[in-house]
Amino acid sequence: MSYDTIIVETRGKVGLVTLNRPQALNALNSTLLTEVNRALDDFDADRNVGCIVITGSEKAFAAGADIKEMSELSYPDTYVDDFFAGWDRVASRRKPMIAAVAGFALGGGCEFAMMCDFIIAADTAKFGQPEIKLGVMPGMGGTQRLTRLIGRAKAMDMCLTGRMMGAEEAERSGLVARIVPAADLVAEAIKTAETIASMSRPAVMMTKESVDRADETSLAEGVRFERRVFHAMFGTDDQREGMKAFIEKRAPQFKSS
Ligand code: CAA
Repeated sequence: MSYDTIIVETRGKVGLVTLNRPQALNALNSTLLTEVNRALDDFDADRNVGCIVITGSEKAFAAGADIKEMSELSYPDTYVDDFFAGWDRVASRRKPMIAAVAGFALGGGCEFAMMCDFIIAADTAKFGQPEIKLGVMPGMGGTQRLTRLIGRAKAMDMCLTGRMMGAEEAERSGLVARIVPAADLVAEAIKTAETIASMSRPAVMMTKESVDRADETSLAEGVRFERRVFHAMFGTDDQREGMKAFIEKRAPQFKSS
């Protein structure tokens, strides 16, 4: 499969998508969105792939939605086409996705990173929602996901001033899971993805589904959902193997990973 705006590779059990529009700092245009969804469709269908890494370049994960593409759109255009709705498909994937972010992750770039299950940031990473400076606001989930991740006060600060946040502040605020040296970013993200992909596939996917529930439901409902999914895990061979391996003091051999 050939792509114009991304590079798609499989490294063992890890699917790797590298955003590749260097001339526009990986600005997210409609071709890129279509291609990302096509790549994710393929990774979803590939039983060998257990975890996905999304990355950009050293300078930019992505500097936002493509301003040149959208500058002349009208309200009816955006409404009728449900502009940006394709990003909901990116956000609702069932296999875990890690965003490996170096350089700018601004506007839609920050929003794309937040659609992933967690972010590993290079020490060079800069996050921001600068849409307010363009006379608009985040439109790919930024006001919702950023608020859930870093809280109302900081989300307001970021969205209303359009300021950028460096990697350390982002880690302190809960936006990123960990910071690594820029030179090690992709290798560290792939190593992390390999660890996840080596686990029981149903256990990984059910865990992701359960953590995602925390954003959608009350605590009592979430805990009940978690318990039912936990019960379901006793229907898998991997549960028996994982627990037996612990008791026998050996590494588990998960059939489904
Ligand atoms: N859309 C389209 N093109 C973009 C772009 C974007 N979001 N960001 C950068 N580019 C282009 C620039 O126009 C420039 O192209 P030319 O060489 O043809 O002029 C090229 O990428 C390099 O950019 P700069 O020369 O500006 O690079 P810099 O190092 O001086 O600055 C930057 C880097 C601070 C990230 C700056 O490019 C910038 O501010 N970009 C826009 C950031 C932004 O506002 N993002 C939000 C977009 S709106 C959005 O995302 C809506 C939403 O909610 C989804």
